[in-house]
Amino acid sequence: MSARTAAPTPPATIGIIGAGRYGTALARTALRAGLVVLMASSRDPVTLGARLSLQAPGASVVTAAEAARRGDVVVLAVPLRRIRELSPAVFAGRVVIDATNHLPVWDGPPPDLGTATTTSEWVQEHLVGARVVKTLNHLGADELEDDAAGTGSTVRRALAVAGDDDGAVAAAMALVERLGFDAVDAGPLAAGAALEPTSHAFNGWYDRERLFALLTAPGAGPGRERAGPRPAGS
Ligand SMILES: NC(=O)c1ccc[n+]([C@@H]2O[C@H](COP(=O)([O-])OP(=O)(O)OC[C@H]3O[C@@H](n4cnc5c(N)ncnc54)[C@H](OP(=O)(O)O)[C@@H]3O)[C@@H](O)[C@H]2O)c1
Repeated sequence: MSARTAAPTPPATIGIIGAGRYGTALARTALRAGLVVLMASSRDPVTLGARLSLQAPGASVVTAAEAARRGDVVVLAVPLRRIRELSPAVFAGRVVIDATNHLPVWDGPPPDLGTATTTSEWVQEHLVGARVVKTLNHLGADELEDDAAGTGSTVRRALAVAGDDDGAVAAAMALVERLGFDAVDAGPLAAGAALEPTSHAFNGWYDRERLFALLTAPGAGPGRERAGPRPAGS
């Protein structure tokens, strides 16, 4: 498969499901990049609105259904153990970015993946009809905000994007680029294994060339010892 590239028109509106540590960091990063941000959690919208006015001023509180319908892309920023609470009908046909991870300390034992080999495929199996893409999961909330580079920056961190739907991958890559990162095509959704916790890519600082080399290296597997050093000034 030849490497896919970002869609020429980046998403203008992002829906975010989950307004915790990562969702709010993503909201601030997206607002800084000029996107319209629609956020949903499972809580009372008035309380969430009051909190977001402090934590992500400019983001709008909506229902999950509205975030999915109005967002050019919708990002899942909820604990993995709560994915099954999401209604598949709401996400059918939508570009859904799975930014979730299985972290035993937060999520407990891993879910029974059934026939899936990665958590993103498991998410896809639940969200039947959604166009699921794995990305934005393999850096921390602080890094997302700190490493997002302005346009014209010559040193940019690269993020990997894995998915089966070419159009959805192109949209997700365009979002990644718009947020201030270089996007690298990681292959099909199953290749999202290379972005999961314990992988080399997870939390490692790579530029485009080095991330591509890492993802295409034979035997790239668990371990973080190959994570690249952060360039000075980045
Ligand atoms: N924190 C990071 O640095 C980081 C980095 C990369 C990826 N991630 C991934 O992002 C996800 C969230 O992490 P986090 O650190 O932001 O966790 P968190 O601070 O606990 O926030 C989780 C958010 O999800 C909401 N939520 C839970 N169930 C929901 C549902 N059914 N519908 C809508 N919203 C729901 C929670 O709000 P209510 O309970 O009020 O609804 C809360 O706002 C995890 O999968 C994590 O692995 C986190």
